[in-house]
Amino acid sequence: MTQTTVFEVVGGQPFFDALVERFYERVEVDPTLRPIYPTDLAPGKRALALFLGQYWGGPPSYSAEKGHPRLRMRHAGFVIAERERDAWLSAMLAALDDADAPQAAVSMMREYFTTASTAMINAGG
Ligand code: HEM
Repeated sequence: MTQTTVFEVVGGQPFFDALVERFYERVEVDPTLRPIYPTDLAPGKRALALFLGQYWGGPPSYSAEKGHPRLRMRHAGFVIAERERDAWLSAMLAALDDADAPQAAVSMMREYFTTASTAMINAGG
């Protein structure tokens, strides 16, 4: 039996770097998301790409740099209501739609982003 990870199937870290690039292209022009993000987008971009690579079975580069992900805690400083979550998820799913990857891997990522972005909601309204 061989175990294959999504990380391997999509071709490794370059896939996640490119996905996050496309996601951030949307963040930069999104009226809901842009004000929540800091002026310098580069550090967050790198952190998200490394996190996703690690999450989907790549090397633990995110944890080596930043420690345990504790994502809900790391988002506690941002007001994330349903509106912000929806804007985030739309940007990520659009970035994923433009990806060149096997359908099974894309489906798994869509499901993950949908569930995990909902779990990040920390405010009403
Ligand atoms: C699937 C759901 C999500 C995942 C996996 C995720 C992942 C991450 C990661 C790994 C970071 C970097 C943390 C660090 O500095 O180490 C981050 C930062 C951030 N996330 Fe999320 N996130 C998600 C959902 C959301 C949602 C729904 C919002 C709402 C707008 C959001 C807004 C932000 C912001 C504003 C930052 C800070 C970026 C910066 O400091 O440059 N995230 N996220």
